Amino acid sequence: MADQVPPRAFVAGFPVAHSRSPLIHGHWLAGHGIAGSYLRHEVRPDGLAAFVACLKDGSQAFVGGNITIPHKEAIFALADEADETARMIGVANTVWLDEGRLKATNTDAYGFAANLDQRHPGWDRGRTAVVLGAGGASRAVIHALVERGFASIRIANRTLARARHVSDRFGERVSAHPLEDLPDLLVAADLFVNTSSLGMQGGAVPEIDFSPMAAEAIVTDIVYVPLLTPILAQARAQGRTVADGLGMLLHQAVPGFEIWFGTRPAVTEELRNLVIADMDRHA
Ligand code: ATR
Repeated sequence: MADQVPPRAFVAGFPVAHSRSPLIHGHWLAGHGIAGSYLRHEVRPDGLAAFVACLKDGSQAFVGGNITIPHKEAIFALADEADETARMIGVANTVWLDEGRLKATNTDAYGFAANLDQRHPGWDRGRTAVVLGAGGASRAVIHALVERGFASIRIANRTLARARHVSDRFGERVSAHPLEDLPDLLVAADLFVNTSSLGMQGGAVPEIDFSPMAAEAIVTDIVYVPLLTPILAQARAQGRTVADGLGMLLHQAVPGFEIWFGTRPAVTEELRNLVIADMDRHA
């Protein structure tokens, strides 16, 4: 019978070899004793439409999966239905088949908020947030901040026009600013989020003075390699509470697993340590 076939899910992207999603989902599958699988599936930049066609005709026997770089925007046009979260963010990362229709959502906003809920409960009592960067990751973070009721969300970006493009999408609580305004934007802010690629691959990071922020402010970075990014290291040296980005990766995987395999998994210290050990192995 068809429903006895073990469910198969995937992470599809190019490149896909370094994805840590198989480690995360494999840990949950084993822990819950589910006879399913979660596989890396390389889909070249021009191969997404053919892959989607295979998904829908059932020849791949997948229940759904994660869509990653470079396909996160293109999957929109190809999915039969993108939910409101994915439409707000403009990027999808999770798909599933529902009676032959391919549905898409974005779980990054959920992952961002759930990480802070777990590690810093009460973080969303803040009113003012500063978000550095204006790409797809920034839109997911801003969507979460709007949903959690932040009254003032200030985007600072090197290219002001991109920040404006994002702020226009989210309405009057979100404003756009040039990078040079960062010192003023940080005054009395409750939360700082780096969504830019500043500091990735060892690039130089400007000095940021976090001292004008509110007393209980949190500084977080969605980059998680290394765990203590240059921006978090600066904030910690200034005595600020910091939250690393690894939890966002772990939590964003939860809704997908539940959709594909029918069980809601937990983000535990054991899982976190498993991924950290993998990061250390590949450092
Ligand atoms: P993603 O979709 O993953 O968020 P992206 O769209 O490439 O990635 O966005 C990267 C962000 O990092 C952008 O906000 C980018 O600023 P620009 O919009 O001006 O390009 C920001 N960024 C990258 N390198 C930067 C640098 N050296 N200084 C400041 N901002 C930088």
